[in-house]
Amino acid sequence: MTKERTFSIIKPDATRRNLTGKINAKFEEKGLRVVAQKRLHMTQEMAERFYAVHKERPFYKDLVKFMTSGPVVVQVLEGNDAVALNRKVMGATNPANAEPGTIRKEFAESIEANSVHGSDSPENAKNEIAFFFSETEIVG
Ligand code: CMP
Repeated sequence: MTKERTFSIIKPDATRRNLTGKINAKFEEKGLRVVAQKRLHMTQEMAERFYAVHKERPFYKDLVKFMTSGPVVVQVLEGNDAVALNRKVMGATNPANAEPGTIRKEFAESIEANSVHGSDSPENAKNEIAFFFSETEIVG
């Protein structure tokens, strides 16, 4: 097992329901450490750039609208195999398919308002972390 970092977003549906602490508790219980974190309101331009890989998907416009609808908490999580571990802790993208005990099973409202985003590969984690954080803001 190798120590690794992944990028996470607590989405507007979760900040609206004051779930930041409960979601962080899930990460910490499973061995993920929050080594950087900030709350911000994404602009349309930021959300469009962040989700540019989904530009051609039918849900892109709604996704950008949703991600700019309220504050988010962007985070760097650190732990053994953090990318894969975080995906396990989050559960399936669609909460209807998420395992019991996962964040999305317990908290998500829908496939769009699914409470959290997590990087899907170590390479994307690097890029997504760099999108929001400088190295000096990450304290392991
Ligand atoms: P996320 O990990 O943030 O990456 C892209 C997001 O698009 C995804 O989580 C979902 O919340 C959102 N989304 C909305 N509709 C769909 C869909 N039909 N299929 C996949 N993702 C969707």
